[in-house]
Amino acid sequence: MFQLSKEGQDFVKGELTRYEHKYSAIIPSLYRCQEENKGWVSPECIRHLSQLMAIPEAHIWEVAKFYTMFNHQPVGKLHVQVCTNISCAMNGGRELADHLCKTYGVENGEMSKDGMVTVTRVECLGSCGTAPMMQINDGYHEDLTPEKAVQIINELRAKHGN
Ligand code: FES
Repeated sequence: MFQLSKEGQDFVKGELTRYEHKYSAIIPSLYRCQEENKGWVSPECIRHLSQLMAIPEAHIWEVAKFYTMFNHQPVGKLHVQVCTNISCAMNGGRELADHLCKTYGVENGEMSKDGMVTVTRVECLGSCGTAPMMQINDGYHEDLTPEKAVQIINELRAKHGN
């Protein structure tokens, strides 16, 4: 059963007092849950937030499902999001995503068996001038080739202990 840490609960309570309408606190609170729940928002997270914030679960679900930055299944320690929108697609973004899926033995959105890498195709990440690009956790990596992307991921894997 998921529960935010004491600090996490204090954070949510703080967010609830910060905005004119308490529904505005849903996004930062979901982020906090995702952070404390190994990178994804589970049904238990929603239930917990609903109780903590006194907001119906359905409203929190609506927000969680609408925004693509919330994951609804476990992701690897490295969540590799490859942009396959127009600018990136014209510069090899789709092939890049395929190459990374093949390299790490995963389908789109799937986590590698060692729990290290999830590769997800995403829409524009706002870095079209340096296409193709990918986001890994909070970091952007631009002007990629398949080789460069694999090198970056492998360096990060080594850093994260695998
Ligand atoms: S199209 Fe890829 S970042 Fe905009």
